[in-house]
Amino acid sequence: MYVPQQVLTNDDLAQRVETSDEWIRTRTGIARRRIAGPGETSSTMAIAAARAALQVADADPREIDLIIVGTTTPDYLFPSTACLVQNALGANRAGAFDLSAGCSGFVYALIMGHQAIASGEHRLVLVIGVDTLSRVVDWQDRNTCVLFGDGAGAVLLRASEGPAGVLATLLGADGSGGGLLIIPAGGSALPASEETVAKRLHAIQMNGQEVFRFATHIVEQATEQVVKKAGLKLEDIALIIPHQANLRIIQTAAKRLKLPLERFVINLEEYGNTSAASVPIALCEAIRDGRLAPGQNIVLLGFGAGLTWAAALLKWSVPAKAVVPGYRNLWRRWLYLWARWRSRGRQFLRHLNVRLIRLFTRNHRD
Ligand code: UT7
Repeated sequence: MYVPQQVLTNDDLAQRVETSDEWIRTRTGIARRRIAGPGETSSTMAIAAARAALQVADADPREIDLIIVGTTTPDYLFPSTACLVQNALGANRAGAFDLSAGCSGFVYALIMGHQAIASGEHRLVLVIGVDTLSRVVDWQDRNTCVLFGDGAGAVLLRASEGPAGVLATLLGADGSGGGLLIIPAGGSALPASEETVAKRLHAIQMNGQEVFRFATHIVEQATEQVVKKAGLKLEDIALIIPHQANLRIIQTAAKRLKLPLERFVINLEEYGNTSAASVPIALCEAIRDGRLAPGQNIVLLGFGAGLTWAAALLKWSVPAKAVVPGYRNLWRRWLYLWARWRSRGRQFLRHLNVRLIRLFTRNHRD
């Protein structure tokens, strides 16, 4: 995982808009969030998270078959953020694409990665959830600007014969709710213009209460459905890692599912809602805190803009972190350096090629 250094507290926000630490804490559970610095973007955060995942797994970036980045705040409309990650890692064999499913982006991407492996086509898939919502938030709108933060989380999925892994999945969408959580401008419907900028149409607009209603219902429903699909019972689930949108959403769902709140991973006090990054960041922290043990069943659950939702039930099989020899990390660093030179070399050759062709055709004409 990767989160920016810069911390924005509720008190900091209270100096920008009419709000208070007390309101934000009691209505959302959020105390602070991380905000991307000037040099940081979705791709830089995604690359940092991906490198951390490769280090933990002691994997070689050149073995990756596929990179899927769940994001709604890519660096550019194109090229995809996944291609920027592919280039920086030197993952020369990998296909790469972005997946847009709002805050469900990571769980959607994980399920797609799992299916790519299950098809037998791929063996090593890098799945990333990243968002830089601070760049698309209206900092004058207290209804939304207090909620979001920036960050990235990544996992590596590897083909294996074991009984562990993804046991059941669930994807859902309800496009009739698209207008409830939307950035109206910047796409083909409303391209950027002076008017769209003046009307703040490039920023997030949300009907908080409606999204809240949807979210509480879907966390309960999707959890029950995915558990049933795996042929298990709720008691068999050691941990649920839901999208971190609002503490009250998780509390309500826990009550309805009749599960203790301790069964949920909750970290939104620290990071706020990091959109597609929230589930993988919470997963990384659960691993760090020793809350996951091999053989446990866990549910990852995303919901958000679209409206979309996704759930994956996994049997955890990753043993406690093994110490990776220092030389392996040095080797990976060397590969990243080599990837940068290689990329620049290719850009230079492409440039040279164009120049030579122009020179040749001009001489030919003359
Ligand atoms: O990741 C995608 C999924 N997103 C979500 O799941 C978000 C779901 N929605 C929510 O989490 C909640 O609806 C919010 C946290 C966004 C809002 O909480 P709420 O309890 O639904 O508040 P509300 O919208 O009903 O507003 C209650 C009052 C209003 O004042 P009046 O009209 O009663 O006088 C708001 O203007 O709170 C006011 N308010 C605030 N006051 C202080 C709204 N935002 C703020 C604020 N500080 N930041």
